Amino acid sequence: MQNKACVRAHTNIALIKYWGKRDETYFLPMNSSLSLTLDKLYTDTMVSFEEDLAGDVFYLNDELQGEKETQKISAFLDLFRKEKKTTAFARVESHNHVPTAAGLASSASAFAALAGAANRALQLHLDPQTLSTFARRGSGSATRSIYGGFVEWDMGTTSDDSFAIEVDDASWDIGMVIVAVNKKAKEVSSREGMKRTVETSPFYPAWTQAAKKDIVSIKEAIAKKDFIRLGEITEANGMKMHGTMLGAEPPFSYWEPDSIRAINIVKQLRKEGIPCYVTMDAGPNVKVLCRLSQAETIKTALLSCFSADKLIITGPGAGIRELTATERSE
Ligand code: ADP
Ligand code: DP6
Ligand code: CO
Repeated sequence: MQNKACVRAHTNIALIKYWGKRDETYFLPMNSSLSLTLDKLYTDTMVSFEEDLAGDVFYLNDELQGEKETQKISAFLDLFRKEKKTTAFARVESHNHVPTAAGLASSASAFAALAGAANRALQLHLDPQTLSTFARRGSGSATRSIYGGFVEWDMGTTSDDSFAIEVDDASWDIGMVIVAVNKKAKEVSSREGMKRTVETSPFYPAWTQAAKKDIVSIKEAIAKKDFIRLGEITEANGMKMHGTMLGAEPPFSYWEPDSIRAINIVKQLRKEGIPCYVTMDAGPNVKVLCRLSQAETIKTALLSCFSADKLIITGPGAGIRELTATERSE
């Protein structure tokens, strides 16, 4: 029996954000969210269950990981071991084609890839929706990375119905320009940041109320392929999320001077008639939602302030898929 599989999962950027859990054990969110899966940023993860291992072994970008990181993936793999009724430990080798822990959603592609690989390696045959609930238990944003295009994670009512579904394949000239202002790992993880916000920010109830309206409006905009409306809702939703953090105690912010420089360039481009809109996550990096056909023009404008190595143009990405042996060795 082949107990090994390698799966690729793409990262996704939320247009309507997930920011806060109503249940920390099961990763149940306070609100539904909606994202765009990205083609250029992804994680490849190989999982091999081996009877003779004394514990899980985890390599990230060819470096053996210590106890803390290994413990995280062990707890996650336990969910799959329980499902399969096996006690076999695993060797995990993961490569991030995205900066780790920098606000570019490495945890989303990471846990979607790990879930997909564990599902295949143990031949569990979990359907995508169920697999999405498993990915959720590793990192909330991973729930959405099982699928490509525009994806909605429905907050659900229980652990079994809090999963994602594909809303639209985003093949109507949709793209993103990523301004990687700072690729270093952040000081406040997404997990810690959202927890502090939920527990201490008086703005939090207003955020959940707004997010619940925004998800309805953005799905209408997607159904009509109304790009301007899509962008306006995206930008406003991201700003509201960042506003909640300023109300937290102690307050915090992921913004850096370069984040504002990027935002100002986007505003100027809009004045010049190019529809493009910003969103930011738990990090200083700015993502510009745009027409893919106008991404080069937007990149050129950003080059006035940022070097080319900080700018990534990407189109919509696909859902998870198993890699062939040749792709694996590349
Ligand atoms: P990001 O903005 O990159 O998603 P988070 O703080 O949400 O940042 O998550 C980063 C964490 O995700 C890392 O500290 C690590 O624990 C985990 N992670 C990132 N990449 C991988 C990977 N390829 N395999 C397993 N875990 C990963
Ligand atoms: C701002 O999914 O990284 O990117 O569930 O604790 O692992 P955990 O957090 P994570 O949070 C993502 C927060 C966000 C918004 C989003 O992706 O929806
Ligand atoms: Co994350």
